[in-house]
Amino acid sequence: MSLVLKNVKKSFHQGDAEIAVLKGLNIEIQPGQVVSIVGQSGSGKSTLLSLLAGLERPDAGDILVDNVHLAPMTEQELTLFRAQNIAVVFQQYHLIAHLTALENVMLALEILKMENPRQRAQEALEELNLGHRLNHFPSQLSGGECQRVAIARALVVKPKILLADEPSGNLDTHTGDKVMDVFFDIVKKHQITTILVTHSESLAQRCQRILRLEEGLLKDV
Ligand SMILES: Nc1ncnc2c1ncn2[C@@H]1O[C@H](COP(=O)(O)OP(=O)(O)O)[C@@H](O)[C@H]1O
Ligand SMILES: [Mg+2]
Repeated sequence: MSLVLKNVKKSFHQGDAEIAVLKGLNIEIQPGQVVSIVGQSGSGKSTLLSLLAGLERPDAGDILVDNVHLAPMTEQELTLFRAQNIAVVFQQYHLIAHLTALENVMLALEILKMENPRQRAQEALEELNLGHRLNHFPSQLSGGECQRVAIARALVVKPKILLADEPSGNLDTHTGDKVMDVFFDIVKKHQITTILVTHSESLAQRCQRILRLEEGLLKDV
């Protein structure tokens, strides 16, 4: 799915002061493109991702996903649209501690009332090389394994857009690289439009396109 930002603005209030974080973003991302967003800490990368995910709304401007405008949607419409089309992976894995790997992934399917949740969840975990960890709880898994479960959970619903905020930020370099190898393999294979926020220059270089967020504006590098 394509992703278009039209003059997207977002500010936060701190006491009396208003901090403009995003000052009018205009960008067009083609379906299936794998794009990284880089920028200094505090430049607004996570803020942008939460707007793209439909978790927060811009103060001005609009976001179009596959030519559908998000701004006019009601909260209910936005929630449904997000669940069906957009998946997010965070730096912290946000797995549910009392559910196994398989159950964590199944839950995403059950919420959307999709067919064959057990089989599909198992296949998603196998694609992330976790076929031998289905019945483990998060506390019994390594960081790299937890993040791969989180990626399986994001991808199992076959999202059109995948948003990832520093997905390897909690992992050592070697583990992070291995997680990102399988991440890139899968998004390319399924042609998922992907936005990857990262500090890492080398990770950004693995994407088809690099955007830099600087002084509230987004530009191609
Ligand atoms: N909910 C919020 N309330 C107030 N300020 C916020 C909020 N979220 C983010 N900010 C501010 O917006 C700026 C950008 O934050 P963020 O998007 O997290 O940056 P990044 O992810 O690039 O490090 C920071 O100055 C941060 O303090
Ligand atoms: Mg951030």
